[in-house]
Amino acid sequence: MIVPKEIASLMPYQPGKPISETKRELGLSQVYKLASNESPLGPSPRVLAALAQALPEIHRYPDGACFEMRQALAQHYQVPPDWLIFGNGSDELVDMMVQIYCRPGEAILTSQGAFSAYEISAKSVLVTPLHAPLTADLRFDLKAMASMLKSDPRIRMVFLPNPNNPTGAYFTDGEFAQFMMVAGQKDIFVVLDEAYLEFVRAKDYPVGREYQKRYPNILLLRTLSKSFGLAGLRIGVLIAPPEICAVINRVRKPFNINSLAQAAAVAAVADHDYVQRLTKLTWSGLDYFYAQLTEMGFKFWPSQGNFVLFDTGVDGDEAFQKLLRLGFILRPVKGYGFKTHLRLSVGLAEENALVIQAIRKAFRGC
Ligand SMILES: Cc1ncc(COP(=O)(O)O)c(C=O)c1O
Repeated sequence: MIVPKEIASLMPYQPGKPISETKRELGLSQVYKLASNESPLGPSPRVLAALAQALPEIHRYPDGACFEMRQALAQHYQVPPDWLIFGNGSDELVDMMVQIYCRPGEAILTSQGAFSAYEISAKSVLVTPLHAPLTADLRFDLKAMASMLKSDPRIRMVFLPNPNNPTGAYFTDGEFAQFMMVAGQKDIFVVLDEAYLEFVRAKDYPVGREYQKRYPNILLLRTLSKSFGLAGLRIGVLIAPPEICAVINRVRKPFNINSLAQAAAVAAVADHDYVQRLTKLTWSGLDYFYAQLTEMGFKFWPSQGNFVLFDTGVDGDEAFQKLLRLGFILRPVKGYGFKTHLRLSVGLAEENALVIQAIRKAFRGC
């Protein structure tokens, strides 16, 4: 069978290297993973209790409508329950949206250096991913994106991760307002991927939900993988007008959110203390990284997420291997066009101190 060229050219998404695999391969007894922007706090105790309570029911199919989780998340996000649709991770929602709203030969628009899930979803259904150039300081160029939108009628959806992964950069309220003057007039969707929303500190960050009230073609993508510590249970959330949710619901697999995930989500959004602790830890971890990377003379890009991108000055894969041999898994980002960079996720304070020691040893020889 012939494989379409779009599929043949797809590079599979590269997840962070698992701890168990690293221990096995390198014969290390202690390995730290700071590669996947996960919560270093572990799961919330309230989530663990909810999971224990849900376990005796796992012989039954989950609630396909996610009733309780829907109520809890509607309250948490301050939206009506019928404005929500859920995915097995937000990447499943991206898949469904592209599959529904783009035909082969049409295009999605994002930026160079943007989170790669959109490109993979597009190519897998023979939709062309277009990438606007990044600015010199690795920020999205929303003006260039607006020009591309004006001139290319193939574009059906725009994907804007804010902040972006792996750069950590964000676009401002002013920049987004200008962009929406163009995008708001067009028969396209603008997907604001706010996976790291809870970690954002920037005062001029655009409030997606407020824009959505003004522009019905904005869809908001959220996840419980980051600030709620549920990456392993795969819960993505789309906030969209009910008529859009109803369309996506036609292609959604009926039980895409399993029963344990649903129980965990209800408990997770009720645990405000967990999110607060994690946010504080993230901010202090980032500030610590900035200070240490500055002291060691590395270029880095300030981040609104729970990770920081820095330039090691040597080949990124080599840099990754050097740290791996010292027992630290970071994320190489060559696939995003950042040849000498690594992405470092914030860990617990002691893990942060240890990884900085390892970086010093690997690249500064002390
Ligand atoms: C910008 C961005 N969006 C979405 C996701 C994926 O979230 P999920 O775990 O819900 O698929 C990530 C994960 O790294 C991300 O960085």
